Amino acid sequence: MIELAFSILASDFSRLGEEVATAASGGGTVVHVDVMDGHFVPNLTMGPPVVKSLRAATRLPLDCHLMIENPEKFIPAFADAGADWVSVQQEACKERLPDALEMIVKHGMKPGVVINPDTPVENILKVLPFVHHVLVMSVFPGFGGQSFMPISLDKIRQLAQIRKAQDLGFRIEVDGGVAHDTVASVVEAGAELLVAGSAVFAPGKTRQNAEDLLRLARAAAPNSK
Ligand code: DX5
Ligand code: ZN
Repeated sequence: MIELAFSILASDFSRLGEEVATAASGGGTVVHVDVMDGHFVPNLTMGPPVVKSLRAATRLPLDCHLMIENPEKFIPAFADAGADWVSVQQEACKERLPDALEMIVKHGMKPGVVINPDTPVENILKVLPFVHHVLVMSVFPGFGGQSFMPISLDKIRQLAQIRKAQDLGFRIEVDGGVAHDTVASVVEAGAELLVAGSAVFAPGKTRQNAEDLLRLARAAAPNSK
């Protein structure tokens, strides 16, 4: 099922609750929360206190994308704050990845694994049976508003093939530069959870942007043709 996971990084934080409601009114069904620590990526954003406020403002799933070193340290805090899905970067966990995913499950949340544009799918093969979603980065993480990297399309196709061949159930999410001119290509490749920030949030246009993105995505879905 195609879903729009709108990234609040591009929203007006002074009106966060309203921004979420407006994106949801345009059809967005997942709230994507970009957590950055200034170490794993060269930017600082938000953490559990913001998740707690979001939890009070919406019933939509809160999809927390942890771009942080030692994510295990913060998993309990995200669970307490009310996160639903938590994804960790393979590059931040390396051999600790299976343990980090298990810890997310033990805290009652859905586990996801993220790979950067230069990380091959081979690096996460072992955990594919255990994850709820795989997040394919189509930009190097750290900032919103970057250009989509087409190299991610091959990885989305590869993941869709593996899922079919091994009869697995993970969902394929894509993040970075997903916009009106790129969304069809990611959906055709096999992505279904579409993260978009700057293509959604714009004063007075957020609802329309979300509706348009979803319309374009659904028109490109393999089962709609
Ligand atoms: C990048 C973040 C993305 C980003 C997406 O580090 O993980 O979620 O906010 O923003 P856009 O849609 O503007 O590329
Ligand atoms: Zn993200």
